[in-house]
Amino acid sequence: MSNLKENFKSSFTYLSEFALLNIVAAAVVIIIEDNIRSALNIITLFFIASIFILQLIGKKRNNELKEISTTISNIHNNVFKSTDEIILNKDLLQLEHEIKIMFEKTKTDIDYLKKLERVRTEFVANVSHELRTPMFAIQGYIETLLNGAIDDKKVNRYFLGKANQHTLNLSNLLNDLIDISMIESGELRMSFRYFKVNDFLQQIVNDFKILGEEKNIQLEFHPAKESLQVFGDKTKLRQVMVNLITNAIKYTEEGKVDIYVKEEGKFARLIVKDTGIGISSEESDRIFERFYRVDKARSRAIGGTGLGLAIVKHIIDAHNSKVEVSSTPGIGSEFSFLLKK
Ligand SMILES: Nc1ncnc2c1ncn2[C@@H]1O[C@H](COP(=O)(O)OP(=O)(O)OP(=O)(O)O)[C@@H](O)[C@H]1O
Ligand SMILES: [Mg+2]
Repeated sequence: MSNLKENFKSSFTYLSEFALLNIVAAAVVIIIEDNIRSALNIITLFFIASIFILQLIGKKRNNELKEISTTISNIHNNVFKSTDEIILNKDLLQLEHEIKIMFEKTKTDIDYLKKLERVRTEFVANVSHELRTPMFAIQGYIETLLNGAIDDKKVNRYFLGKANQHTLNLSNLLNDLIDISMIESGELRMSFRYFKVNDFLQQIVNDFKILGEEKNIQLEFHPAKESLQVFGDKTKLRQVMVNLITNAIKYTEEGKVDIYVKEEGKFARLIVKDTGIGISSEESDRIFERFYRVDKARSRAIGGTGLGLAIVKHIIDAHNSKVEVSSTPGIGSEFSFLLKK
């Protein structure tokens, strides 16, 4: 009985069509049937039949609505694991298709949000960890000095120097973090220009000569033809080269670091090659991740946080290019990327 009521309710949607159909049918019958009595009979019969049909249509509509609402609530309640489980009546194929697309899209959006949330949590954990290390060290040195070491001429300058070194690490870390967050939020504006690549690289190599010599590592620049110009953001590319050359020196115990610029068709390839510890092929896919370091203890001891290559990757991506790595553990590494000539 309640089904009947519901079907009727659903059929109200078609009430105006129903009324119109009956009025038209009645008018036609009156025109073609002279006998009033039989005309009335036909009209009554037609009226009853159309109520019956209306009831059937209402029932069908009701079933379809129920099917759709069950499907939607199943999606809400995570009942479906894949789109194959979403099946509607064959008259609703188009709708079934649309629901499947919506389901797939919601699923990928949710997976993406979950991944972002995980990355964010990891990032915050990494940042706090990296900040804690130099903070504790600085705290330790200052406490030791306050507890009397300040008057001990043999160690006071040494402790101050150490504390100072850690404040420098802290400030480098903060600068890297600011760079990363600006690049990732799209706030970092790039300014592309043509510039002479030899002058640009020679300058950086000169700045790093001393750092290399301190470790007995020779830095050599192999220029291209004098007039060669490349297209890019000079300031950001300087940051890239500084990171790559710093790494090359940092992760090389003996040997040399070569910086090349080579023409390749419409492009120029900038290369930093070292004879250092190298990176295994499994690791070389991961070194561009934020905070990823192959050997954490070693890297921290020489003052690394694992943000350098993440910044390099972002900047080179923004030049529509890609950083290529080729490395053999124990032999050395080569980092390179192309720039438009
Ligand atoms: N030239 C290289 N030779 C060998 N290993 C390298 C070289 N460059 C990078 N790596 C490895 O990749 C890791 C990530 O490098 P990245 O420059 O991002 O971080 P970092 O040098 O440890 O710290 P940061 O650059 O933030 O001071 C390094 O920790 C190191 O293990
Ligand atoms: Mg580095």
